[in-house]
Amino acid sequence: MSGVVRKTLAILVFLYLGASTADRAVGRVRQSAMATHFDAKNGQSLYTTNCSSCHQANGEGRVGAYPPLKGSGVVIKNDATKHIRIVLNGLQGAKAGGVVYASPMPPFGSTLDDSDIADIIDYERSSWGNHGQLVTAAQVAAERGRSN
Ligand code: HEC
Repeated sequence: MSGVVRKTLAILVFLYLGASTADRAVGRVRQSAMATHFDAKNGQSLYTTNCSSCHQANGEGRVGAYPPLKGSGVVIKNDATKHIRIVLNGLQGAKAGGVVYASPMPPFGSTLDDSDIADIIDYERSSWGNHGQLVTAAQVAAERGRSN
């Protein structure tokens, strides 16, 4: 009789531990796959300092000189790889929204850290009517690793 009780208890403990480990693993994957919030104040203030001279506070850029980030395909695309890479490495001679821009976009990979870059990108992805999927500092770090 006590053997049966012991076995039942062992099975219950096994099931409980197994389930909670699986839950934690799923939670971790979810957390690393997508961000749901960011430091919006920091993102806005860094955008104002580093980006708005060209892209403007309203995200509309300057016709023919600096592309708009409002409605930009790069900024609203859920896959943020290109967005992250442009901010890290800069951009020159590309076609943004079908227009070739004469002046280059400067790189920010050496002046801003991963979490600041994530905040700026998330600010752009959630401002001016944009609804792009948010990014994490870990995603920025991963791209930085790849581009070196
Ligand atoms: C000196 C002006 C300047 C500054 C400052 C600047 N950019 Fe740019 N940015 C550009 C130009 C010019 C392009 C287009 C380059 C090209 O197409 O070759 C561009 C392109 C981009 C694009 C791609 C847009 C698209 O639709 O393809 C993104 C995203 C972007 N910039 C984000 C930023 C962020 C974030 C900052 C601040 C951290 C920033 N830029 C600061 C000039 C600037």
